[in-house]
Amino acid sequence: MNSRFFASDNCSGIHPQIMDAIVEVNHGHVKGYGHDHITEKAISDIKQIFGNQAEVFFVFSGTGANVIGLQGCLRSYEAIICSDVAHIHTDEAGAPERFLQSKLITIPSINGKINANQIKPLLIGRGVEHHVQPKLISITQSTEYGTIYSIEEIKAITNIAKEENLYVHMDGARVSNAAAALGKSPIEFTKEAGIDVMSFGGTKNGMMMGEAVIFLNPDLAKSTMYQRKQNAQLASKMRFISAQFSAFFKDDLWLNMAVHSNRMAKALEKSLLKFKEIIITQPVEVNAIFAIFPPQIIPLLQEEFPFYVWNEFTNEVRLMCSWDTTQQDIDAFSLKVEQLINKHL
Ligand SMILES: Cc1ncc(COP(=O)(O)O)c(C=O)c1O
Repeated sequence: MNSRFFASDNCSGIHPQIMDAIVEVNHGHVKGYGHDHITEKAISDIKQIFGNQAEVFFVFSGTGANVIGLQGCLRSYEAIICSDVAHIHTDEAGAPERFLQSKLITIPSINGKINANQIKPLLIGRGVEHHVQPKLISITQSTEYGTIYSIEEIKAITNIAKEENLYVHMDGARVSNAAAALGKSPIEFTKEAGIDVMSFGGTKNGMMMGEAVIFLNPDLAKSTMYQRKQNAQLASKMRFISAQFSAFFKDDLWLNMAVHSNRMAKALEKSLLKFKEIIITQPVEVNAIFAIFPPQIIPLLQEEFPFYVWNEFTNEVRLMCSWDTTQQDIDAFSLKVEQLINKHL
């Protein structure tokens, strides 16, 4: 149990304040399915950030949050435009296609990001009955490659969306890390930047489990309470997700955890830059590092510090830092890298 993982930010445990919040609500009886004062409070905590108009739905998983958020916006013949590395495209076992029956139209990304100029050429065949009808652009903030969209980049995308009558969804599984990196309140790069619906991830940032689907455009949430149930994402003991969110937002815990994991990634980057055998492949903007490692040392390193190989052809690996990653973890990892390079290269 002492092993320290760089595989994902969901390998770490639960922040003690969040665990305490779960224990605190673990007495007495309350109504199920979110009809309780603990859930009411958590929703109002989120509305404090995003405004009273926002419609908030708690769900179990990031994949579930994406499905529920997207479902409010789309009919089965309407298509989603997203990057070729979008989690909804590559890592959800086809959940969006299955639950929404919508086609995904992917765009080549650079550093995990798409840009506004790539959208218009895809808008062909609109109004033609033989073609799927693009209706939504989905972006991920922070991206699957640990980068962030600036507010200007987001606005450029949402402006095109407005002109072309498209909605914009943000997969915010790691939106805390993006907020920490941008130094902005999430409302500034979501609602105020023209995002219609987003997920706000909790699990990857110190929660046990739980994500929030937030409709910033409340008109899109009219059927969501039914869709959440139909898609098996309605928690009967909702209070245990809700209590986590209230603790998460109390005294900026969410932000402090994200600031910390981002800082640890920077420290890890710094420690790896000294090895000429390692090439950092993406800008390190949040809590992820992508780097090409010498293949001889990857499995040996993984034995002690599990992490994923992102691309087995190029030997690009992903290293993720968590709210509980320490400088000692980084020093130990870096020392092991050094020992293995000296021994095997
Ligand atoms: C960007 C992004 N979105 C969504 C998810 C989905 O989360 P979950 O594994 O909880 O379904 C992940 C998980 O890795 C993710 O990285």
